[in-house]
Amino acid sequence: MISLTPYKVRNIEFKNRIVMPPMCMYQAENGFVQPFHLTHYATRAIGNVGMIIVEATAVSPEGRITDNDLGIWDDQFIPGLKQLTDEIHRYGSFAVIQLAHAGRKSQSSANPHIAPSALSFSDQYETPVQMEEDEIKELKDNFVKAAKRAIEAGFDGIEIHGAHGYLIHEFLSPLSNHRLDQYGGSLDNRARLLREVITEVKESIPNEILFQVRVSASDYDPEGINVHDVIEALRPVKEHLDFVHVSSGGNVTRPIELKPAYQVSFSKQIKDTLNIPTIAVGLIYESKLIEEVLEKGEADLIALGRELLRNPYFVNQLYASEKQLNQLPESYLRAYK
Ligand SMILES: Cc1cc2nc3c(=O)[nH]c(=O)nc-3n(C[C@H](O)[C@H](O)[C@H](O)COP(=O)(O)O)c2cc1C
Repeated sequence: MISLTPYKVRNIEFKNRIVMPPMCMYQAENGFVQPFHLTHYATRAIGNVGMIIVEATAVSPEGRITDNDLGIWDDQFIPGLKQLTDEIHRYGSFAVIQLAHAGRKSQSSANPHIAPSALSFSDQYETPVQMEEDEIKELKDNFVKAAKRAIEAGFDGIEIHGAHGYLIHEFLSPLSNHRLDQYGGSLDNRARLLREVITEVKESIPNEILFQVRVSASDYDPEGINVHDVIEALRPVKEHLDFVHVSSGGNVTRPIELKPAYQVSFSKQIKDTLNIPTIAVGLIYESKLIEEVLEKGEADLIALGRELLRNPYFVNQLYASEKQLNQLPESYLRAYK
């Protein structure tokens, strides 16, 4: 089974190809890690998930989606996050953190909510304040500082959240970016923030740290971004990235035809065109489908979101079904004999 074989990128090796994608648990208090997080992530580590990506963690208070998101905008958050990486490492998983700013989709009590343009996500959301260039600079600094804190907290890797209609995606998409300066207009300009965040963070972290970005490969709107735009946006910075984590949607509400593996073709296009490893995600639940995607070379790793909320021991069960009992936590072996 390919999914259970190790995967190596540069000198970094994962014990298998299953990833837990970032999933906000909305359990943080004032941004701080809580006992829930320690148990929640440790459970997936005991469950042998190769790479665990900790949920969207905000680089500034108004960058939270809600007041219950995790935060990393201050050194005060480091000890709690260190406890979290210790738990993940204790059981042998690789710990990545998703660094995020929610932009116009913030519903946190911190203000002002900022975005490339003063365009609200929907009637249910506040109209954001258009960012000035000095605020863009501050935002990039916040990503850099957050990345340094994440490393101090023991994370093995960093994922920049460039997807789902949050701030970096808002800049990338002409549906949410109507700016007239160097951050708006052409694709090259709209992708400037994405490129700058990737470059500045990469330059400020040690080379052995895994570095990846999550993108939405489509707005599902003819006027929005598509996979070709995302490929061109990433091309100049691809050398900085170990993986592209390929999702879609989230910037505007449009109907999406949801079916198993519905985002995998985007992963394949990005992987093939840029010649870069990818993580595929989205309604990939069955081991047969996981194998198919890997066998066809449509992605290098597979992220299982809701499945790992339902069943944290999905990977243990795969090992058991393949008679690789030596991979299971010893204390659980009697359950499989
Ligand atoms: C409860 C929940 C919280 C989520 N939070 C995040 C998040 O923090 N960052 C992110 O990029 N995606 C987030 N997502 C999206 C997932 O990472 C994943 O892309 C999505 O669930 C599709 O994969 P699946 O079909 O395997 O669940 C979240 C999804 C769920 C269900």
